Amino acid sequence: MIRIENVSKIYKVKERGGDEGDFYALKDVSLSVEDGSIYGVIGRSGAGKSTLIRCVNLLERPTSGRVFIDDTDMTLLDGQALRAARRKIGMIFQSFNLLSNRTAYRNIAFPLELNKRSKKDIDARVREIAALVGIDDKLDHYPSQLSGGQKQRVGIARALANSPDVLLSDEATSALDPQTTKSVLALLRDINKKLGLTIILITHEMNVIKEICDSVAVIEAGEIVEEGAVMNVFTNPQKSITKELVASVMNTELPDSFANLNFTQERSSESADVLLQLSFFGDIAAEPAMERLIRAFDVSVNILVAHIDHIRNMPYGTTIIQISGDGRDEALESLLNMRLKVEVIGYVSRSFRITG
Ligand SMILES: Nc1ncnc2c1ncn2[C@@H]1O[C@H](COP(=O)(O)OP(=O)(O)OP(=O)(O)O)[C@@H](O)[C@H]1O
Ligand SMILES: [Mg+2]
Repeated sequence: MIRIENVSKIYKVKERGGDEGDFYALKDVSLSVEDGSIYGVIGRSGAGKSTLIRCVNLLERPTSGRVFIDDTDMTLLDGQALRAARRKIGMIFQSFNLLSNRTAYRNIAFPLELNKRSKKDIDARVREIAALVGIDDKLDHYPSQLSGGQKQRVGIARALANSPDVLLSDEATSALDPQTTKSVLALLRDINKKLGLTIILITHEMNVIKEICDSVAVIEAGEIVEEGAVMNVFTNPQKSITKELVASVMNTELPDSFANLNFTQERSSESADVLLQLSFFGDIAAEPAMERLIRAFDVSVNILVAHIDHIRNMPYGTTIIQISGDGRDEALESLLNMRLKVEVIGYVSRSFRITG
């Protein structure tokens, strides 16, 4: 378990008058990361993401607060003890940070050399880890001879060389195209599972969170403004920044075909049907739920929109339905009691039809 407790990081900055002032890059940040989970921190540029992740391995020393990895308070360590603790924490970067005058093999070997391992041990470990990340055929290549995705795989192999418990990822996919991003994220998920590795990753891209994270924290101006399980945050975002981020990767907007239709917020005699948006997790299919409604209540149900998205590998469905008939209020009430998120979009007249 990693616990960040009330961490603040203050930089001394020159203010306009020439005096020194305090700038809070992090302000009273607390969060905890379960062993074996993938924890994402998302925020805009300058929000404090890199500062936060660098406080975990003490590349930045917090101005106040504590950072625990299991029972070790990292902020109390320095010198040899800090170096030993850091060996259990790998790190990867947006710009890969490979040594250009060393081959892939010797980049991966580098932390093992620093750790004074024997040549034979190093060779075995380099080959093992290179196979795991899928670059065993590129070991004699120099970084300049590798693609971005291959470079990041070397970066990951190097970070894993000393068998760390924790991997810190600072925008590791931000320099990669979408397809390569997907494959590197799949690799991170794979090593998380295979090695039981805890991963903290920071990103400004919500699709990275959506693809692989278990939990997410949203950071703004040095403060965590929202935090929780990815499923909860995606289906029930609270803060406006979070809502924007979720909307950027989920189809939560009404389809264009709805734009010109007159549905009203209040029910009148002409607009008697209710238009609902239902969202649901897992494999609750829309049709059986609708059939149940029709059977149980005196209603007819028209499915106007249905699509399935995925958060991690969990299906997340969104359906827009129109309910008419005398039983619609009871039907609505029963829907509200199901494991669904139900939103009333508005009321429409019975002749309402979607046109493509
Ligand atoms: N050494 C420093 N001295 C003064 N201010 C700093 C220092 N390092 C970072 N900052 C400031 O702290 C804030 C947070 O920086 P940080 O690098 O953590 O942001 P970030 O969220 O990683 O941004 P990006 O997405 O652009 O990488 C920024 O406003 C930055 O200018
Ligand atoms: Mg950064």
